[in-house]
Amino acid sequence: MKKYAVVTGASSGIGAEFAKRLAKEGYGLVLTARRGDRLKKIKKHVKTECEIITADLTKEIECYRLYHAVEDKPVAVWINNAGFGDCGKFKNGELQKEMDMLSVNVRAMHLLTKLALRKMERQKYGSILNVASCAGLMPAGPYMASYYATKSYVTSLTRAIAEELRSDGSPVYIGCLCPGPVDTEFNEVADVEFALKGISPSYCVRYALKKMKQRKKVIIPSLPVRLAMIFGRFLPEELYIRIAAHQQRRKKKL
Ligand SMILES: NC(=O)c1ccc[n+]([C@@H]2O[C@H](COP(=O)([O-])OP(=O)(O)OC[C@H]3O[C@@H](n4cnc5c(N)ncnc54)[C@H](OP(=O)(O)O)[C@@H]3O)[C@@H](O)[C@H]2O)c1
Repeated sequence: MKKYAVVTGASSGIGAEFAKRLAKEGYGLVLTARRGDRLKKIKKHVKTECEIITADLTKEIECYRLYHAVEDKPVAVWINNAGFGDCGKFKNGELQKEMDMLSVNVRAMHLLTKLALRKMERQKYGSILNVASCAGLMPAGPYMASYYATKSYVTSLTRAIAEELRSDGSPVYIGCLCPGPVDTEFNEVADVEFALKGISPSYCVRYALKKMKQRKKVIIPSLPVRLAMIFGRFLPEELYIRIAAHQQRRKKKL
Protein backbone atom coordinates (compact mmCIF):
# COMPACT_ATOMS: atom_id res chain seq x y z
CA MET A 1 0.00 0.00 0.00
CA LYS A 2 1.32 3.43 -0.98
CA LYS A 3 2.04 5.60 2.06
CA TYR A 4 1.94 9.36 2.18
CA ALA A 5 4.02 12.20 3.56
CA VAL A 6 2.49 15.56 4.45
CA VAL A 7 4.83 18.56 4.35
CA THR A 8 3.76 22.03 5.47
CA GLY A 9 5.72 25.01 4.16
CA ALA A 10 6.76 22.94 1.14
CA SER A 11 7.03 25.87 -1.29
CA SER A 12 10.65 26.71 -0.46
CA GLY A 13 13.75 25.97 1.61
CA ILE A 14 13.70 23.07 4.05
CA GLY A 15 10.10 22.07 3.25
CA ALA A 16 10.73 21.87 -0.51
CA GLU A 17 13.77 19.70 0.19
CA PHE A 18 11.73 17.38 2.44
CA ALA A 19 9.22 17.05 -0.39
CA LYS A 20 11.86 16.09 -2.96
CA ARG A 21 13.63 13.63 -0.69
CA LEU A 22 10.46 11.94 0.58
CA ALA A 23 9.31 11.57 -3.04
CA LYS A 24 12.60 9.79 -3.81
CA GLU A 25 11.91 7.46 -0.88
CA GLY A 26 8.65 6.48 -2.59
CA TYR A 27 6.04 8.33 -0.53
CA GLY A 28 3.03 9.96 -2.14
CA LEU A 29 3.10 13.65 -1.25
CA VAL A 30 0.62 16.11 0.16
CA LEU A 31 2.22 19.56 0.02
CA THR A 32 0.93 22.77 1.49
CA ALA A 33 1.90 26.46 1.57
CA ARG A 34 0.35 29.74 0.39
CA ARG A 35 2.33 29.95 -2.88
CA GLY A 36 0.56 27.39 -5.05
CA ASP A 37 2.69 28.26 -8.11
CA ARG A 38 5.82 27.14 -6.24
CA LEU A 39 4.12 23.93 -5.13
CA LYS A 40 3.12 23.20 -8.73
CA LYS A 41 6.79 23.47 -9.79
CA ILE A 42 7.73 20.90 -7.16
CA LYS A 43 4.89 18.65 -8.28
CA LYS A 44 6.28 18.74 -11.84
CA HIS A 45 9.75 17.88 -10.57
CA VAL A 46 8.87 14.84 -8.43
CA LYS A 47 8.08 11.40 -9.82
CA THR A 48 5.37 10.42 -7.37
CA GLU A 49 1.71 11.14 -6.69
CA CYS A 50 1.55 14.69 -5.37
CA GLU A 51 -1.48 16.58 -4.05
CA ILE A 52 -1.26 20.33 -3.56
CA ILE A 53 -3.26 22.11 -0.91
CA THR A 54 -2.83 25.86 -1.03
CA ALA A 55 -3.46 27.09 2.50
CA ASP A 56 -2.66 29.94 4.83
CA LEU A 57 -1.87 28.26 8.14
CA THR A 58 -2.40 31.46 10.14
CA LYS A 59 -6.07 30.48 9.80
CA GLU A 60 -7.36 27.62 11.95
CA ILE A 61 -9.98 26.72 9.36
CA GLU A 62 -7.24 26.21 6.76
CA CYS A 63 -5.38 23.87 9.12
CA TYR A 64 -8.56 21.78 9.43
CA ARG A 65 -9.03 21.89 5.65
CA LEU A 66 -5.54 20.45 5.22
CA TYR A 67 -6.22 17.74 7.78
CA HIS A 68 -9.58 16.74 6.28
CA ALA A 69 -7.93 16.42 2.86
CA VAL A 70 -5.59 13.71 4.20
CA GLU A 71 -7.76 12.17 6.90
CA ASP A 72 -8.48 9.02 4.88
CA LYS A 73 -4.97 8.57 3.47
CA PRO A 74 -2.36 6.30 5.08
CA VAL A 75 -0.01 9.06 6.25
CA ALA A 76 3.32 7.66 7.43
CA VAL A 77 5.25 10.94 7.73
CA TRP A 78 4.02 14.38 8.80
CA ILE A 79 6.48 17.28 8.68
CA ASN A 80 5.29 20.44 10.44
CA ASN A 81 7.78 22.77 8.81
CA ALA A 82 5.90 25.99 7.91
CA GLY A 83 7.23 28.91 9.90
CA PHE A 84 9.00 32.22 9.79
CA GLY A 85 10.91 34.70 11.92
CA ASP A 86 11.29 38.41 12.45
CA CYS A 87 14.13 40.47 13.77
CA GLY A 88 14.40 43.69 15.79
CA LYS A 89 13.60 45.11 19.20
CA PHE A 90 10.42 43.63 20.68
CA LYS A 91 8.93 47.08 21.39
CA ASN A 92 9.30 48.09 17.72
CA GLY A 93 8.07 44.85 16.13
CA GLU A 94 4.95 44.87 13.96
CA LEU A 95 2.26 43.28 16.13
CA GLN A 96 0.24 41.71 13.29
CA LYS A 97 3.37 40.01 11.89
CA GLU A 98 4.08 38.62 15.37
CA MET A 99 0.50 37.37 15.79
CA ASP A 100 0.80 35.65 12.40
CA MET A 101 4.10 34.12 13.52
CA LEU A 102 2.44 32.75 16.65
CA SER A 103 -0.40 31.40 14.52
CA VAL A 104 1.89 29.51 12.12
CA ASN A 105 4.86 28.55 14.30
CA VAL A 106 2.80 27.64 17.38
CA ARG A 107 -0.96 27.30 16.84
CA ALA A 108 -0.92 25.53 13.46
CA MET A 109 1.94 23.27 14.57
CA HIS A 110 0.07 22.43 17.80
CA LEU A 111 -3.25 21.75 16.09
CA LEU A 112 -1.76 19.66 13.28
CA THR A 113 0.45 17.71 15.70
CA LYS A 114 -2.60 16.68 17.72
CA LEU A 115 -4.67 15.71 14.69
CA ALA A 116 -1.77 13.84 13.06
CA LEU A 117 -0.91 12.04 16.29
CA ARG A 118 -4.48 10.84 16.88
CA LYS A 119 -4.68 9.65 13.28
CA MET A 120 -1.32 7.83 13.48
CA GLU A 121 -2.25 6.13 16.75
CA ARG A 122 -5.40 4.83 15.05
CA GLN A 123 -3.26 3.65 12.11
CA LYS A 124 -0.70 2.15 14.56
CA TYR A 125 2.22 3.72 12.69
CA GLY A 126 3.62 7.06 11.68
CA SER A 127 6.26 9.70 12.32
CA ILE A 128 5.79 13.38 13.10
CA LEU A 129 8.69 15.77 12.76
CA ASN A 130 8.24 19.32 14.04
CA VAL A 131 10.71 21.77 12.56
CA ALA A 132 11.84 23.94 15.48
CA SER A 133 15.29 25.56 15.56
CA CYS A 134 18.33 25.61 17.80
CA ALA A 135 16.67 28.88 18.96
CA GLY A 136 14.16 26.60 20.68
CA LEU A 137 16.90 25.02 22.79
CA MET A 138 18.19 28.35 24.13
CA PRO A 139 16.81 30.30 27.10
CA ALA A 140 15.89 33.42 25.07
CA GLY A 141 16.84 35.36 21.94
CA PRO A 142 16.86 39.13 22.38
CA TYR A 143 16.19 41.02 19.11
CA MET A 144 14.40 37.95 17.78
CA ALA A 145 12.41 37.47 20.97
CA SER A 146 9.09 36.28 19.52
CA TYR A 147 10.70 33.82 17.11
CA TYR A 148 12.85 32.22 19.84
CA ALA A 149 9.79 31.99 22.10
CA THR A 150 7.74 30.25 19.38
CA LYS A 151 10.50 27.71 18.79
CA SER A 152 10.86 27.03 22.53
CA TYR A 153 7.18 26.12 22.45
CA VAL A 154 7.83 23.66 19.62
CA THR A 155 10.75 21.92 21.37
CA SER A 156 8.99 21.82 24.76
CA LEU A 157 5.73 20.46 23.36
CA THR A 158 7.45 17.89 21.15
CA ARG A 159 9.74 16.56 23.88
CA ALA A 160 6.83 16.23 26.30
CA ILE A 161 4.71 14.32 23.78
CA ALA A 162 7.69 12.08 22.93
CA GLU A 163 7.95 11.06 26.58
CA GLU A 164 4.20 10.34 26.79
CA LEU A 165 4.46 8.16 23.68
CA ARG A 166 7.50 6.31 25.05
CA SER A 167 5.72 5.67 28.33
CA ASP A 168 2.61 4.40 26.50
CA GLY A 169 4.70 2.14 24.24
CA SER A 170 3.14 3.95 21.26
CA PRO A 171 4.28 2.91 17.78
CA VAL A 172 4.16 6.57 16.73
CA TYR A 173 7.36 8.63 16.65
CA ILE A 174 7.61 12.35 17.30
CA GLY A 175 10.74 14.47 17.24
CA CYS A 176 11.91 18.01 16.62
CA LEU A 177 14.43 19.27 14.11
CA CYS A 178 16.62 22.04 15.58
CA PRO A 179 18.93 23.43 12.92
CA GLY A 180 21.19 26.43 13.23
CA PRO A 181 21.40 28.61 10.10
CA VAL A 182 20.21 26.95 6.88
CA ASP A 183 20.51 28.73 3.49
CA THR A 184 16.87 29.28 2.52
CA GLU A 185 14.51 32.24 2.05
CA PHE A 186 14.22 32.49 5.84
CA ASN A 187 16.56 35.51 6.04
CA GLU A 188 14.67 37.45 3.40
CA VAL A 189 11.40 36.94 5.28
CA ALA A 190 12.95 37.71 8.68
CA ASP A 191 14.98 40.61 7.26
CA VAL A 192 18.29 39.39 8.70
CA GLU A 193 21.69 38.17 7.62
CA PHE A 194 23.23 35.13 9.30
CA ALA A 195 26.08 35.80 11.69
CA LEU A 196 27.28 32.21 11.03
CA LYS A 197 27.62 30.30 7.76
CA GLY A 198 24.50 28.29 6.95
CA ILE A 199 24.23 24.62 5.97
CA SER A 200 22.40 23.57 2.80
CA PRO A 201 18.73 22.53 3.00
CA SER A 202 19.75 19.30 1.30
CA TYR A 203 22.25 18.35 4.05
CA CYS A 204 19.79 19.45 6.75
CA VAL A 205 17.01 17.24 5.39
CA ARG A 206 19.19 14.18 4.68
CA TYR A 207 20.47 14.34 8.26
CA ALA A 208 16.97 14.90 9.66
CA LEU A 209 15.46 11.90 7.86
CA LYS A 210 18.35 9.65 8.90
CA LYS A 211 17.90 10.62 12.57
CA MET A 212 14.12 10.44 12.32
CA LYS A 213 14.44 6.79 11.26
CA GLN A 214 16.63 6.25 14.34
CA ARG A 215 13.78 7.83 16.37
CA LYS A 216 15.94 10.60 17.77
CA LYS A 217 13.83 13.11 19.68
CA VAL A 218 15.96 16.23 19.20
CA ILE A 219 17.80 16.45 15.88
CA ILE A 220 20.57 19.05 15.43
CA PRO A 221 22.10 18.78 11.97
CA SER A 222 25.56 20.29 12.31
CA LEU A 223 28.47 19.57 14.61
CA PRO A 224 29.31 23.20 15.54
CA VAL A 225 25.68 23.85 16.53
CA ARG A 226 25.53 20.56 18.48
CA LEU A 227 28.68 21.59 20.36
CA ALA A 228 27.35 25.11 20.97
CA MET A 229 24.14 23.66 22.45
CA ILE A 230 26.15 21.39 24.78
CA PHE A 231 28.49 24.23 25.78
CA GLY A 232 25.49 26.50 26.39
CA ARG A 233 24.17 24.19 29.12
CA PHE A 234 27.17 25.06 31.28
CA LEU A 235 26.90 28.83 30.85
CA PRO A 236 25.18 31.03 33.43
CA GLU A 237 21.78 31.82 31.87
CA GLU A 238 22.27 35.60 31.87
CA LEU A 239 25.57 35.28 30.01
CA TYR A 240 24.02 32.84 27.52
CA ILE A 241 21.25 35.34 26.77
CA ARG A 242 23.78 38.16 26.33
CA ILE A 243 25.77 36.07 23.85
CA ALA A 244 22.53 35.31 21.95
CA ALA A 245 21.75 39.05 21.93
CA HIS A 246 25.21 39.82 20.53
CA GLN A 247 24.73 37.26 17.72
CA GLN A 248 21.30 38.66 16.86
CA ARG A 249 22.57 42.26 16.81
CA ARG A 250 25.26 41.21 14.31
CA LYS A 251 22.53 39.79 12.06
CA LYS A 252 20.79 43.10 11.56
CA LYS A 253 23.43 45.58 12.76
CA LEU A 254 21.12 46.72 15.57
N1 LIG B 1 16.63 28.75 7.55
C1 LIG B 1 17.05 28.65 8.79
O1 LIG B 1 18.15 29.12 9.12
C2 LIG B 1 16.24 27.95 9.83
C3 LIG B 1 16.88 27.56 11.01
C4 LIG B 1 16.15 26.92 11.98
C5 LIG B 1 14.81 26.63 11.78
N2 LIG B 1 14.20 27.02 10.61
C6 LIG B 1 12.78 26.71 10.45
O2 LIG B 1 12.61 25.95 9.29
C7 LIG B 1 11.28 26.09 8.80
C8 LIG B 1 11.32 26.33 7.30
O3 LIG B 1 11.97 27.56 7.06
P1 LIG B 1 12.97 27.80 5.83
O4 LIG B 1 14.28 28.13 6.40
O5 LIG B 1 12.87 26.72 4.85
O6 LIG B 1 12.39 29.18 5.27
P2 LIG B 1 11.57 29.53 3.95
O7 LIG B 1 12.35 29.15 2.75
O8 LIG B 1 11.17 30.95 4.11
O9 LIG B 1 10.28 28.57 4.05
C9 LIG B 1 9.21 28.82 4.93
C10 LIG B 1 8.01 28.02 4.48
O10 LIG B 1 6.92 28.27 5.40
C11 LIG B 1 5.76 28.58 4.65
N3 LIG B 1 4.87 29.49 5.37
C12 LIG B 1 5.20 30.66 5.95
N4 LIG B 1 4.08 31.26 6.40
C13 LIG B 1 3.03 30.44 6.08
C14 LIG B 1 1.63 30.52 6.24
N5 LIG B 1 1.04 31.59 6.80
N6 LIG B 1 0.87 29.51 5.80
C15 LIG B 1 1.42 28.43 5.20
N7 LIG B 1 2.75 28.30 5.00
C16 LIG B 1 3.54 29.31 5.43
C17 LIG B 1 6.30 29.26 3.38
O11 LIG B 1 5.36 29.10 2.31
P3 LIG B 1 4.51 30.29 1.64
O12 LIG B 1 5.25 31.57 1.82
O13 LIG B 1 4.39 29.86 0.20
O14 LIG B 1 3.20 30.24 2.34
C18 LIG B 1 7.53 28.42 3.10
O15 LIG B 1 7.21 27.28 2.36
C19 LIG B 1 10.66 27.23 9.60
O16 LIG B 1 9.83 26.69 10.59
C20 LIG B 1 11.88 27.91 10.24
O17 LIG B 1 11.55 28.55 11.44
C21 LIG B 1 14.90 27.67 9.63
